[in-house]
Amino acid sequence: MARVPPTNEDYRMARQVRTEEFLLGVEGAALLRQVVDGNDEFVAERVAAIGRLVESLGGDQTATAVPEFDVDDGYAAWAPVYDAIPNALIRAEEPLVADALADVQPGWALDAACGTGRHAAHLVASGHAVVGVDRSAAMLAVARRKLPQAEFRVGDMTALPLDDGSVDVAVCALALTHLPDPGPAIAELARVVRPGGRIVLSDAHPAYVLLQGQALFPHDDGLAFVRNYPHLHSRYLDAFSGLGLVVRRCAESPMDADFSAGLYARAAAAAQALWAGIPVALVWSLQRGP
Ligand SMILES: C[S@@+](CC[C@H](N)C(=O)[O-])C[C@H]1O[C@@H](n2cnc3c(N)ncnc32)[C@H](O)[C@@H]1O
Repeated sequence: MARVPPTNEDYRMARQVRTEEFLLGVEGAALLRQVVDGNDEFVAERVAAIGRLVESLGGDQTATAVPEFDVDDGYAAWAPVYDAIPNALIRAEEPLVADALADVQPGWALDAACGTGRHAAHLVASGHAVVGVDRSAAMLAVARRKLPQAEFRVGDMTALPLDDGSVDVAVCALALTHLPDPGPAIAELARVVRPGGRIVLSDAHPAYVLLQGQALFPHDDGLAFVRNYPHLHSRYLDAFSGLGLVVRRCAESPMDADFSAGLYARAAAAAQALWAGIPVALVWSLQRGP
């Protein structure tokens, strides 16, 4: 029998999250990071905060659904505000991608899973002729408004609508993490880049995704998320070597966040300690073999 695809209504039956549960997780993770070799006062503060949160969980706090959306529904909902919402992952990632592209000569450039055209805009400004591909019509509509100089095509990064060897450089940013297996998309990037051409991949870092790095976005006065899958460095390296892609550089960057506002505000000190030094962005700079 054919599988009935889930609807948004199904996703809305997601787990009901109480803010105190989230904060308890943050306090507990911060405690874990310091419990053996940390500061006594900080550890005591975490234990006290955990005690207060556990006690308050006995009451009847409001629980809010944080539904999971698939890529299509999620980015259709996220597109109108994607560019307006401060994003700590993007702040960490953007300078690393700019650095990886700094010595690439202007030519034909692909922005795969381009979204609203963040890197496409940078490529246009650097003198490239740019084509952007994304499976979300809503994200592409924003990109087209912003960047009439570029061409945008609806398409999947696992079956790119481009000819073999047709671009000099390809960027694929913060999208592979939405695929359970990044291999087929990396193979497509290797196919469409000319021999000797360059590929820049950025992704949510596996350490961040494993800890609690789902792609959260504002939805219905609350939050929703699109699933991120953690891809370990070994998985990438296997894919690269099988495709003849040479690693020029691998760069990682920690979170640059203001924890005094938003989700973490009631546990800002713990959040700071929890995320300290944990990379959130991973950027691979690659070259296709001859
Ligand atoms: C976090 S956004 C990143 C957008 C843009 N690359 C950036 O860095 O600002 C992820 C994008 O990947 C796109 N995406 C996810 N899976 C895709 C797939 N299989 N094929 C094409 N696009 C995909 C989504 O539609 C969304 O626009």
